[in-house]
Formats: sequence, structure tokens, C-alpha cells
Amino acid sequence: MQTFDLILRNGTAVTPSGIAKTDIGVRDGRIAAIGDLGAASAADEIDAWGLTVLPGIIDTQVHFREPGLEYKEDLATGTAAAAQGGVVAVFEMPNTKPSTTSDADIADKLARAKGRAWVDHAFFLGAAADNVEHLAEWERLPGCAGIKVFMGSSTGSLLVSDDATLARVLAAGFRRIAVHCEDEERLAERKHLVEGGAHPRLHPEWRDAETALKATRRLVGLAEAARRRVHVLHVTTAEEMAFLADHKDFATVETTPQHLTLAAPECYDRLGTYAQMNPPIRDARHREALWQAVADGVVDVLGSDHAPHTREEKDKPYPQSPSGMTGVQTLVPLMLDHINAGRLSLERFVDLMCAGPARIFNIRGKGRIAVGYDADFTVVDMKADRVITNAWIESRCGWTPFDGKRVTGWPTATIIRGRMVMRDGQLLGSPAGEPVRFGESG
Ligand code: DOR
Repeated sequence: MQTFDLILRNGTAVTPSGIAKTDIGVRDGRIAAIGDLGAASAADEIDAWGLTVLPGIIDTQVHFREPGLEYKEDLATGTAAAAQGGVVAVFEMPNTKPSTTSDADIADKLARAKGRAWVDHAFFLGAAADNVEHLAEWERLPGCAGIKVFMGSSTGSLLVSDDATLARVLAAGFRRIAVHCEDEERLAERKHLVEGGAHPRLHPEWRDAETALKATRRLVGLAEAARRRVHVLHVTTAEEMAFLADHKDFATVETTPQHLTLAAPECYDRLGTYAQMNPPIRDARHREALWQAVADGVVDVLGSDHAPHTREEKDKPYPQSPSGMTGVQTLVPLMLDHINAGRLSLERFVDLMCAGPARIFNIRGKGRIAVGYDADFTVVDMKADRVITNAWIESRCGWTPFDGKRVTGWPTATIIRGRMVMRDGQLLGSPAGEPVRFGESG
């Protein structure tokens, strides 16, 4: 008789062969069998009857603030939020204090995460004018997700705004370069629109669609010249999606749940600076174009761009208020609600959150329910009727722009390499997240 460490019984699993009711057997942290496991025994069993078993959801864009800004978030609170939200792995951004720009900075973050991170993790190496010559070497370090470039200034001081330095970054190494595309020159030219105080409704006027498109065009032109693929983060405009659809051979594309859910001007009237992020939430025309790009397959991945700031900071008058909002914990419930509303399929969601990250970042052993892969599962109840509240938020800052939003669909368990980390809203055991493993070639 077959024996396993864990069996998930009778769940409806989203596998590469389709959606099917099946048992899944786990041994030594990996998926060992998929199918009817009948009389097989296991140390632990989960009755997944009535539940949907997804491959572990991977959030490839979060900001967790450690080191240096732990009063907003740290690796323990940020990853607890991920686990509560059904996320099994996160890629964390380099705009901490100090910025993550060296081999020592990556090693420091990995050491801080050990024994404190609830979920698996990797860290982006920030590109800067003074570390370009090391990028090809350091991007290969274990636990490094790839390279991050800020073309326009946002939170923190990381910035590569000129074409010559960008071309040097693109010429070095092979890992995926993830880029925040807002044109720094145009941002500076238009800053006068909000300087001295304005309503946050003006945020998408200052950082307008042209600001984003201009940077995306420049980046993709340089990427083509360098024959290097780039990953365009949080794409927010109809015009960029049209452009990127013509450049898929060099660009992969991310958008965010908040850009798919909120729209200007309503969100600024209702939430004020709590709706302020970079690039901004835009009007319904852009939001519709993002949904069309999801439907057309132009979008490869969704990232939460989880970017916590305290209420005290967010309550400052615009534009002194910092940009960013929490998101890692609300990504799954929001998107399940969109699935239930018929805006995308469950299969497309798995493609965006599991296959997409694995394909773009060359992740080893994650991203699908298949024998031999890590036993990572996001177990969801597609019928659960719940309300997102600030009280549920694990992030140190304690708020979400979706407070009070009623959703259908909720994560009920997070399983990472065969260990149950969250069940029915309770974190279980101790933090045992590990670095995500990556392939050695481009
Ligand atoms: O709104 C944002 N907040 N956009 C970014 O690019 C950075 C982020 C943050 O770290 O606060």
C-alpha cells in the first residue's frame, strides 16, 4: 500500500491536464501522486471536498521594508500577510534602507528571512549606476529573483533614468530585468501640477499615461537593441498594452489586482491618498484595456505591488503622502471575486499566478500541480462569501484600500512544500519559508 506524508482528498485541482476532482499525495515536500489514492495512507490528511486546489500562488512583486523601515513592515509581518492571503512565495523589491544593491545586501535579506519568513521568498537586486559591473555575477546568487530597475523615482532612492546606463544594465547578465516604467524627465516637468498641494485625484494627471508609455517605449527599444528580454512591471495604460502586444518577443507584462479593480476618479474621491500609488490608478478606459490585455494573453503575470505605509504617512497632505498600498493578502480574494463575476477563468488565474512567474523567472520546481514539483497549494473556497476588513490585515500598517469590500471566493489553506502554513485564517507552526530556487541559464 502506498504511504504519503500528506494526502489532500477529493479536492477539485487545477492541473496541467485540466480541472478535475482528484486526490494528491505528498512525500518529502514534493507532489508524489495525483489521482484516486483509494486506500493509501498518510501521516496527515486534508479533506478538500468542496474546495478548489490551486498550485501555490506566487506574488512576484512585494515591498517588505526590511531592513530600515520595519515600522511599516518586516519580513515576518509581510510574509504572514502572504500566508494569510494564500500566497506561497514572494519576490521582494530592493527599495529598502539601505537599498539591495550588492551581494552582501542579498545575503543579509536571506539571513533575516531564515526562521522568520512564513513563505518562500527571493529578493531582487536593484540596479544602480555604481553596481552595473557586478550585476552579471550577483544576479546568479541563490535567492536572487533577478534585477530591478526604477526608470522613474518612486519610494526610495533607486533610479536608472538615462539610456546609457540602462543599456549597460541590459548588456550585463541574462536573468530577467523587472522595470518600473515612468519617465523621470517627464515626471520632473509635470511636478508643478501638484507641487504646493493638490487633490490626490491629480496623481494620474501628474504621472500621466504618456509618462508611463514614454518609459516603456524607451525600455523596449533598448531591450531589442541588447537582445535581452525585460519584464514590464505594473502596466497601467491602454497605450502601453497596445504597444507591448506588438513587442511580446522582448517584453513580458505585469499588471496588478488594484489596477484591475479600482478606477479614477471614484477611488481618489473615496480613498484620497490611500488610493495613491505609482504608477497611478487610472480611469475606467485604461482599466478596461487592462482586462482586455488579460483576456488577450498580453499580460503574463499579476503582482500585488504590496507597498505598505503607515496611516500617519498616508494621512499627510498630497503630494507629501507616500505612494503605495498593501496587496499581498488581498490578491487572491480579489481575483477569485473577479473569477466568480466572469471576468477571467480559474485556469487563466493559475496561468497568471503560477505558470507565469515560473516561465518568466525560470523558477525551479514550482508553478504547477505535477508529480515531482514542490507540494505548494493554495486551497480556496470559491463559494465563500466574505468581507475584506482592516482587522484581517496582518501587515504592520494594518489597512487595505479594500476594507469593507464583499467578495465571493476566499483562500482557506496555504500549503508550502507539504507543510500547512495557514488553515481557516490561522497561521500554523513556525515560519519555515525557504529561498526560491532558480535555473542556471537564461
Ligand atoms: O506606489 C508605489 N510604492 N510604487 C512603487 O514603485 C514603490 C512602492 C513603495 O515601495 O512604496
